[in-house]
Amino acid sequence: MRLSIWPWAGSAPEAEGLTHIKAKQGSKADFAPSFRLRECAPVTAIAPDLIARYGMRQVPRYTSYPASPHFMGDVDAQTYGAWLEAMPQGATGSLYLHVPFCRQMCRYCGCHTFITRRDEPIAEMAALLRREMAMAADRLPHRLQVSSIHFGGGTPSLLPPAEFALLMAQMAERFDIDADAEIAIEIDPRTLTREMARTLGEGGVNRVSLGVQTLASHVQAAIDRVQPFGMIARAVEWLEGAGIGAINFDIMYGLPHQTEADCIDTVRQVLALSPSRLAVFGYAHVPFFKRHQGYIDASALPGVMERHAQAERIEEELTGAGYVSIGLDHFARADDAMAIAHRDGTLRRNFQGYTTYRADVLLAFGASAIGKLPQGFIQNAVPLSDYGRAIGEGRFATQRGRALTHEDRLRARIIERLMCDRRIDLDGFAGKGEALALADRDALRELADDGLIAWQGSVIELKDRARPFLRNVACAFDAYLSASAGRHARAI
Ligand SMILES: C[S@@+](CC[C@H](N)C(=O)[O-])C[C@H]1O[C@@H](n2cnc3c(N)ncnc32)[C@H](O)[C@@H]1O
Ligand code: SF4
Repeated sequence: MRLSIWPWAGSAPEAEGLTHIKAKQGSKADFAPSFRLRECAPVTAIAPDLIARYGMRQVPRYTSYPASPHFMGDVDAQTYGAWLEAMPQGATGSLYLHVPFCRQMCRYCGCHTFITRRDEPIAEMAALLRREMAMAADRLPHRLQVSSIHFGGGTPSLLPPAEFALLMAQMAERFDIDADAEIAIEIDPRTLTREMARTLGEGGVNRVSLGVQTLASHVQAAIDRVQPFGMIARAVEWLEGAGIGAINFDIMYGLPHQTEADCIDTVRQVLALSPSRLAVFGYAHVPFFKRHQGYIDASALPGVMERHAQAERIEEELTGAGYVSIGLDHFARADDAMAIAHRDGTLRRNFQGYTTYRADVLLAFGASAIGKLPQGFIQNAVPLSDYGRAIGEGRFATQRGRALTHEDRLRARIIERLMCDRRIDLDGFAGKGEALALADRDALRELADDGLIAWQGSVIELKDRARPFLRNVACAFDAYLSASAGRHARAI
């Protein structure tokens, strides 16, 4: 997905995807959630004043470093073309296709999307994506080896089945796709059809993310997204019937009228479907960027303490049922590739959130899509008209980006390891002392004094219950933070 709420004009994609299953996974039968359901004991070990102080700070999600508000207009279509032409031999790649359409606007939505009742605009977008993909492939000096493909949105499962098949065929024609590549797509269970589930399976999709958000009917009414449990279960049945075994769910807390009990109840219900992974997002309320969020009654939104408690309850339920807590906001069944990568220390973070595979290059297609090449980041124009005009005229739609310096790369590696492992040994990064010299020591000292991190020499480790403050720790290595103050969502 590409959430557009964090950077002002661009997109800060988040969540699930671009994963590559290296290890053979067990079947769902191998893993039975234990359903050790616990009552809501008060477990908050972090003092309320700290939750308020750190939770209210506006911090990037660090799906990239520098974060996308720091992309600039000097990286343009010409730069992108030159970077593609310089692609090193042997580089491995992933592909991201952005489909910015939905049938109905969810009141909370922070993604780059447009509402249409018709299929024609979606088919037109698919044709533009095919053209953009061909343009990029033409500029590469050799065929790119691709180990993962991700369809995000909006709601890419709205693609007409024939258009989806054409996109898959074109990718196979223009790139060398690994036989065991991960092919993932984001799905809205309300609009999935049995025919599309079958098409996805036939097209090679092997991981899906379903937007569940909440199963509390009064919260669903408040966010204008009604989808009973049976609808989710039916989607899961269709997808499994189509041979798609890896099923992820997105769930949310901090929604209007949502309570801790609602969060617990939603988790308990969805666990019956034994998802491979769950991404747990705190609702980011930014009605000044996303006007439709103005339909949400702000007085019904949980405050920072309540949001923190909701996140903790969700974590307790999931870990109590055997899911592994990963990074900032992910949970995976112990047999899932992400849990394995987490154990092995090979987890990565990119624009789609956490990923289990390593790719040197991310080629991203579609309006607002953000790609990464060895030289830096590139982002396409956000308005559909600008994107469509450029691609229609045979020009790349690159609007901005960022060429990376040596220091950017070092800081990016540190931040990525922190976001993935919740721990780093800075001496493992560069010459002794070089990485530590990049840290804001006052910020680290404050975090250590407040008991959120353990800091000994070159080793920094997040304390047990401090997961919600992971991004606050990463901030200590962000040289651009002050320049983007106020341009990010709150930590909690
Ligand atoms: C592209 S949507 C998922 C696919 C599909 N469009 C759907 O909603 O089912 C990506 C996810 O972003 C999350 N999300 C959307 N708006 C958000 C917001 N304002 N704050 C936090 N998470 C948000 C939701 O969990 C949603 O499932
Ligand atoms: S269906 Fe998904 S992308 Fe579309 S408006 Fe709802 S949350 Fe946003």
